[in-house]
Amino acid sequence: MTEKTEPPRDIALEPREKSGERLYSPSAARNRDPIRDVFLKLMPRAGKILEIGGGTGEHGVHLARALPDTTWHTGDPDPASRASIAAWIAETKLHNLTGPHSIDVTAAVWGVEEAAPFDGLVSLNMIHIAPFAATAGLFAGAGRLLAPGGRLFLYGPFSRDGVHTAASNEAFDASLKARNANWGVRDLERDIAPLAQKDALTRVDIVEMPANNLSVIFRKS
Ligand SMILES: C[S@@+](CC[C@H](N)C(=O)[O-])C[C@H]1O[C@@H](n2cnc3c(N)ncnc32)[C@H](O)[C@@H]1O
Repeated sequence: MTEKTEPPRDIALEPREKSGERLYSPSAARNRDPIRDVFLKLMPRAGKILEIGGGTGEHGVHLARALPDTTWHTGDPDPASRASIAAWIAETKLHNLTGPHSIDVTAAVWGVEEAAPFDGLVSLNMIHIAPFAATAGLFAGAGRLLAPGGRLFLYGPFSRDGVHTAASNEAFDASLKARNANWGVRDLERDIAPLAQKDALTRVDIVEMPANNLSVIFRKS
């Protein structure tokens, strides 16, 4: 009998250094300060924050440290990422960083319902490196689990009403689709706005970030 094996799942598009179980993301090192600065201005500074697709765990460490009055709960469906997150939590011993959860946003139940409502939901660099069902699942989860007035923070490349904002994003979109036809840069007006409307989320801010990325913030009605 032959055993069926799944092809390896691409979860990051960059090489990562490793120390023990702790992974180091070069892109997280570059973008964590600009993300923190936007977060401090536009997201709740206290309360319960749920991070989705936390990757190495480094954003969680950086943001939990900057926001001591939050409880920052992070995790990832990928086991190696969860091991890294657990190792970063153990290493840093931050009182307000917890996890890892294993939420896959395409699931109808995330397993954190008892802790809801959350004041903030965060997903950095996830929705373009996953099938569109993950974007839909993320918004559905935000609709279910955010408190009224709670906020959703997205970070990554986006197109605007069918037009890429930079040639580099257009090339990136093509390379994503070449890897996986279901991946791709999402369009704020055409892909995201209908989901936000369906799930009672209003877009409140768009902030231009380095390297042609955006931070996009939504508020739950
Ligand atoms: C490119 S990495 C980004 C990691 C980190 N947020 C960062 O910005 O460095 C994308 C992450 O999204 C996670 N992911 C992919 N599909 C997901 C899903 N359906 N639900 C939750 N997370 C998902 C992957 O496991 C991966 O860790």
